[in-house]
Amino acid sequence: MSVTAHNGLYILSTARTAYALGLNRDGLLTHAYWGARLPYPDDYPAPPSPGAWGPFNNPAHLTPEEYPAWEDMKFIEPCIKVSHADGVRDLSPRFDSANIVEDVLQMRLRDAVYDVMLTLHYRALPAYDLIERWATIGNAGEAPLRLERVFSAQWHPPVGDRARLSHLHGRWFDEMHLTREALHPGVKTLESRRLTSSHHHQPWFALDRGDAAEEHGEVWYGLLDWSGNWKLTAEVTDFFSTRVAIGLNDWDFSWVLATGETFETPHAFAGYTIGGFGAASRSLHDFVRERIQPSPQVVHKVYYNSWEATLFDVDHDSQLRLAKLAASLGAEMFMIDDGWYRGRFSQASGLGDWQPDAQKFPHGLSKLIEEINALGMDFGLWFEPEMVNPDSQLYREHPDWVIHYPTRERRLGRDSLHLNLALEDVQAYLIESISSVLAAHNIRYANWDMNRNISEPGWQKDTGEARELWVRYVYGLYRVWNTLRERHPQVIWQSCSGGGGRIDLGMLRVSDMIWISDNSGAAYRLGIQQGYTQMFPASTMQAWVTDQQTDVPFDFRFHAAMCGLLGIGANITCWTEAEMERARHWISVFKSVRHLIQFGDLYRLCPADERGFSAVAYLSKDRRDGVIFAFRTYIGQHEPSLTLRLHGLNGDARYTIEGFEGVRSGAAWMNLNLQFGLHGGLENLGSTMRRITQVD
Ligand code: DGJ
Repeated sequence: MSVTAHNGLYILSTARTAYALGLNRDGLLTHAYWGARLPYPDDYPAPPSPGAWGPFNNPAHLTPEEYPAWEDMKFIEPCIKVSHADGVRDLSPRFDSANIVEDVLQMRLRDAVYDVMLTLHYRALPAYDLIERWATIGNAGEAPLRLERVFSAQWHPPVGDRARLSHLHGRWFDEMHLTREALHPGVKTLESRRLTSSHHHQPWFALDRGDAAEEHGEVWYGLLDWSGNWKLTAEVTDFFSTRVAIGLNDWDFSWVLATGETFETPHAFAGYTIGGFGAASRSLHDFVRERIQPSPQVVHKVYYNSWEATLFDVDHDSQLRLAKLAASLGAEMFMIDDGWYRGRFSQASGLGDWQPDAQKFPHGLSKLIEEINALGMDFGLWFEPEMVNPDSQLYREHPDWVIHYPTRERRLGRDSLHLNLALEDVQAYLIESISSVLAAHNIRYANWDMNRNISEPGWQKDTGEARELWVRYVYGLYRVWNTLRERHPQVIWQSCSGGGGRIDLGMLRVSDMIWISDNSGAAYRLGIQQGYTQMFPASTMQAWVTDQQTDVPFDFRFHAAMCGLLGIGANITCWTEAEMERARHWISVFKSVRHLIQFGDLYRLCPADERGFSAVAYLSKDRRDGVIFAFRTYIGQHEPSLTLRLHGLNGDARYTIEGFEGVRSGAAWMNLNLQFGLHGGLENLGSTMRRITQVD
């Protein structure tokens, strides 16, 4: 049983960790423990009941409540803030009952005056050392209730006021910089107001006491299962405690809960490890692969994408020419990106009209697909369902389907307007129009792109609250995508939003992989990939060799892309025969190691920003097989070689490592300093790939 009740304490246990909560002496639902799993129920502490601090801070202000509401003399960041119909603007949720239903602990809290029920839900995920949390709010009163903030969870890592926060930040073409910063008294906020989770921050965090490292140390980490506006508040109180709350962004948010209605928040997940940031990532990787991904067992193909080769100049002949070359390299999937549909001759026209363009494909798209299939490749197609160009049949027929304010200019982003996916008519149109393309052609792969952020977030609703748009849009997005998946189970989906504009757990429920950045320059990419793998596995990380950063050595470009799901996006009509031959070699090598990258454990051996080097290793789950990629990323570096320590091998098993003499035990290899000569000279960056093999 992963949830137990003992002397008024509720204990959620995972394989190695435990999380405990209960009512304190003041009757508040209070956090009691989060850390290593302890031998006996009596080992866990009682929930604290701190006193007041002078006349200015009531006990509630000092209490680590599981889900503080805005009420009382309490000025810390609340999880919930409401407005009642009579103008009262607080909520006093007090314990009502606790139930354990199918391994979910439900803590029911009720307001004594208003008929509002707040239920906090907790589930332990033992194999991943994760705790899942969400909240539901039910209005049984006679008047509507307005929700103004409703987070998913507040977490209380026991770090006192010595917390260091790790998070990811960036911008388009430059996503996912890993930053670690000490938290000081006050509130640090990370958020998105862009309708997508954004290029700028991801809804992920890790906290430690400033002493954790990649492979050791206590780390508390978590993320949010949501693809829209989100907010994280990391607060160090004046009373030596640190809390992290995460959930829907309350910025411009409002939700009206009518009598009898219930609102459910997105789910939040968080875990604890003593194995450092690497173990935290590996637990999330397993969780995502086994519990979130729609098709976790599929071995992903080597893709060729023709976008950078032909941009909008797509037609039958240009694509067939590229397809023949891609097939000769060993690509297994050929994909036409933007530019295939009716009227799409530039970025200013066609978006929304999801039918193949008859001028570009005079013999029909199916004819081209048959020819590509005959070359031994599957076929894939690009869509951008959420956008519409004013120059399109769809917009001419339905100008009111876009998000807009009637009195304001409809601002274009990349020449497009934003369809309101909260509208059922829009959902139905997208489902039917995209379905008809997927049903009429032998399409095995689809890229769902999304290339602008919101402006003029108006919604001319007949009833209710226009600011529900932020949430209802995301519900609509999930509904369209899930319906397409159900109707066309043969299709593998990629999610892209100008690269990394929508990287979150919600996207990995509907898509199989993510295009993590439009920046595919191999040397830049290592840092972006390092950021991405803090949260998500390499099995979901598309990585292509393109025509960006061609001053980086050809092998390096392949090695960097082989750290994820290798694809080719370059204009291969311009590659020399020597480059084609080298590409053939690496694609064939990749096919022999992709099971490690997709299904194995990832070890970041050297951070991408450290001393001009970077290295990662992937080990099979049975520890018999592995691969190391090492890079010299910084010209002018004086040290010619990189020294690494390996992790994760089976200590008693005996291994060889390509490029090193001898057969040694895993224990020996992990205790030796391994030198990787990456002699690129001063002009060149260097890279290498080495196999690890168990010898029976
Ligand atoms: C933005 C994507 O990130 C690119 O890879 C490409 O698909 C373009 N959109 C196409 O318009």
